[in-house]
This record gives sequence, structure tokens and C-alpha cells, in this order.
Amino acid sequence: MASEKPVNRPAALITGGTSGIGAAYAHRLAAAGYDLILTGRREKLLEKLCDELSQKHGILAGYVVAELADERQVKKIERLIKRIPRLRILVNNAGYGHPACFHEDDIAAQLDMLMVHNVAALRLTHAAVSGMIAQGRGAIINVSSVAAFMVSPRSMMYHATKVFLNSFSESLALELWDAGIRVQVLCPGFTRTDFHAKLGMGDEHPIFTRYRFMSAQKVVEISLKYLKANRVICIPGWRNKIWVFFARFIPRRLFYRALLRRARKEK
Ligand SMILES: NC(=O)c1ccc[n+]([C@@H]2O[C@H](COP(=O)([O-])OP(=O)(O)OC[C@H]3O[C@@H](n4cnc5c(N)ncnc54)[C@H](OP(=O)(O)O)[C@@H]3O)[C@@H](O)[C@H]2O)c1
Repeated sequence: MASEKPVNRPAALITGGTSGIGAAYAHRLAAAGYDLILTGRREKLLEKLCDELSQKHGILAGYVVAELADERQVKKIERLIKRIPRLRILVNNAGYGHPACFHEDDIAAQLDMLMVHNVAALRLTHAAVSGMIAQGRGAIINVSSVAAFMVSPRSMMYHATKVFLNSFSESLALELWDAGIRVQVLCPGFTRTDFHAKLGMGDEHPIFTRYRFMSAQKVVEISLKYLKANRVICIPGWRNKIWVFFARFIPRRLFYRALLRRARKEK
């Protein structure tokens, strides 16, 4: 953490703060006067963002370099969380896509996604909640996806891990309701971040013209508005709401037929 004298600012910890949605939360929460701890793997980006935010907003901003597929590194963040006295917001945002044919892919790669999207979120939430209950307030935001409402061949672990986040978050929200702790599950649709570039989709990729992408800033603005209103499930934007409505209520056989047609075309 940058060396400044401690004051009574609230603190937020954001996993996956290096870019995209996590970095957008960092900007918004720093502007709102939160001290920040960011996690990620690209250290140079974390360092640059922390310097920028602490100078611009006069807050403390520090980072932890951690691979969240490694349980020992997650435990390091858990220990840190337990030592932050005014932790008010935990954003479990770190995540990635990994399209692969299930039976051909290395099982370790499938388990890594379970670790990053689910086990890390579960462990960090568990570490944060008692302190928030003692303060009588706090918020947990779990970044899921519209993918939680859909299914897809070659991406089942992405969908399945996001379903877990939705179910976990909704039940936890009810469990913590009377303790004054808010729990949100954020379900964005296509968002312009580093997510697709990491999958080898450059700016010229047809996905960027085929679908309407939302900015990470807009996603976060809507998430924080929903948090204020204590709304548990946040699906930003009407287009994404329509996708979800369609996926939930279309007869399953028609849904499968459309997905199979698309999967065969993409083969
Ligand atoms: N972009 C979309 O269209 C979209 C749509 C729906 C949901 N989401 C969800 O939004 C969340 C944020 O993604 P984004 O779109 O903002 O993508 P992004 O720009 O690539 O950011 C992902 C963040 O997660 C971190 N991360 C990924 N894998 C990690 C690992 N194994 N260990 C530690 N940190 C890891 C990354 O850190 P480093 O890069 O430093 O390693 C980065 O900070 C994800 O949970 C994603 O599933 C994205």
C-alpha cells in the first residue's frame, strides 16, 4: 500500500482489477473515496492503476499479484481481507473465457476455471462477511454473466461456474438481508474489455460488429445504481434483459436446435 497516514475511509477489494470491469469498479470506487486493494496477474498494469487512482483521488491504493487458480494464493488474499478493518465492498470479478471441447481439453484447465470463478469467490466472500457483519454494513458483488442463463457446447464450464455464482449470491443475499449486507450478482452481456482479446479476438473480429458491446464503465455504473437500490440480480441494459428472457422462457427443444445449428456452423 502507498504510504499515507491512515484515515477513516471505507475500503474495497476488487479481484481482477487490472483491466475491464474490475478496473472500471476501481475508478468509480476511488472517485467515491474508497481505499482500494486490487488483485490481478499483470503487475505493471496494477501498479500504474494504483498510482493513478491514489494521485487523482487522494486514496490509498495497493495491489496483490495473485493467480486465483492457485488455492495458496487465494488464501493469501483471505488473510489480507481479515486484516482490513473497514472493508465495505468485495468485488469478486476475476474471470476469463476458455472455449474448448470438454472431453479433449485437459481436466486441469477445467478445474482451474472452477477455482477462479467459484472457489476463490466463495473463500474471499467467507473471509469478508464476518467483518462486514461486525460493521453492520457492507456489500459483496459477484461478477457473473448473462451466460448463467444460457448453455453452450464448448463453453460449459464458463456457463456452469456462472450459474453457481448466481445461485450462491441469491441465497447469500437472503441470508445476509437482515444483517445489512447487500449481495449482488452482476450479469453483464458482451462488454468491451480485454476478455475477447485474450481469446485471440482482435478489433477486426466479426463478433464486434455482430453484437452490441457495452462499455465496462456503463456496466459498473448500472451495477452500483442497482446496489444502492438493493437489487440482487443486475442484468445491465435492455438488450441483455431480452436475451435472458428469451433464454429462460423459450421451449428447451427450440433453444437446443438454435444452439446446435450455431455450433455446427462454427465447427
Ligand atoms: N467482457 C465480457 O463480454 C463479459 C461478459 C460477461 C461477464 N464477464 C465477466 O466479467 C469479469 C471481468 O472480465 P472482463 O470482461 O473485465 O475481462 P478482463 O479485462 O480480461 O479482466 C479480467 C480480470 O480477471 C483477472 N483474471 C483472469 N483470470 C485470472 C486468474 N486465473 N487469476 C487471477 N486473476 C485472473 C485478470 O487479471 P490479469 O489479466 O492481470 O491476469 C483481469 O484483471 C469476468 O468474470 C468475466 O467472466 C465479461
